[in-house]
Amino acid sequence: MVTRRKFLHQTALGSVAAAMGGTVLSSCSEANTETPVSTNAPIKPLAISTWDFGMKANDAAMKILDNGGSALDAVEAGVMVIEADEKNTSVGIGGAPDRDGRVTLDACIMAPDGSCGSVCALEYIVHPVSVARRVMEKTPHVILVGDGALEFALSQGFKKENLLTEESKKAWEEWKKTSKYKPVINVEMHDTIGMITIDKNGEIAGACTTSGLAYKMQGRVGDSPIIGAGLYVDNEVGGAAATGLGEAVIRAVGSFLVVELMRNGRSPQAACEEAVARVVKKYKDYKDIQVGFIAVNKKGQTGGFSIHKGFNYAVFSNGKNEVKEGTYLIE
Ligand code: GLY
Repeated sequence: MVTRRKFLHQTALGSVAAAMGGTVLSSCSEANTETPVSTNAPIKPLAISTWDFGMKANDAAMKILDNGGSALDAVEAGVMVIEADEKNTSVGIGGAPDRDGRVTLDACIMAPDGSCGSVCALEYIVHPVSVARRVMEKTPHVILVGDGALEFALSQGFKKENLLTEESKKAWEEWKKTSKYKPVINVEMHDTIGMITIDKNGEIAGACTTSGLAYKMQGRVGDSPIIGAGLYVDNEVGGAAATGLGEAVIRAVGSFLVVELMRNGRSPQAACEEAVARVVKKYKDYKDIQVGFIAVNKKGQTGGFSIHKGFNYAVFSNGKNEVKEGTYLIE
């Protein structure tokens, strides 16, 4: 008998084989972490975030959701916890600088009604996600970049702060000795918090925030603030977020793809698997990079999948906050 789990496993391998012109590289993980499909009532409230540090973000979001707060307020509050964590070197204050020593942050946010806001290469502001929300709510635009984003943030009362911590500065000075510009899978690529929340009314919101690729060229922007690439939410379908090398995610418009696949009937897990297959197909050096997706649908079913082993994500649902090991393409 073909069980649903086996079927999904085979589907993923089929997609990947097709992407590789028929060659399956490696088996997906045995432990499929997909939420079982059921006909039960939608699971809500719910919070899902990339990486294990998403647990802290989920906690903050769930405090708001449990009290009847909105998905939008919850998702902003959730990722703000990680932005404020100086120890996290891939998001907010303490984030790795570009090759010139400048910490430039990217973030975006999406509301259940489809409105969205984004900032790119924003300096000196600890909470780019909140500036992105102001862009969404207070301007006729979606994206503000660089000096314009900073000027807008200051006009909205945000305070200028030094984001380059002593530790990040030291690491950057060490990097300058060799200036090797190659991502290290699941170390340097342990980046980005992407988060989706569902409130008690079943409304869905999302946010994504990062300091981007460590020691990037000045002005480089990744997938995280690009609506559809690093994040996408459709209140009728679900939401998805990406982590990993933005240059690869953007080519596949990854998060939008995941949501569209769910709209067309794929489970969140199967949609993430297909999106990774698409990324792999479009990026010839995929073995050297990491890309992962998380997804949740309107029913509260979740999934996560990446190119390489080592990607995990945090799901808070039914009163329990836990880290799930994502399944993957290459051991
Ligand atoms: N995913 C984050 C970046 O590439 O900037």
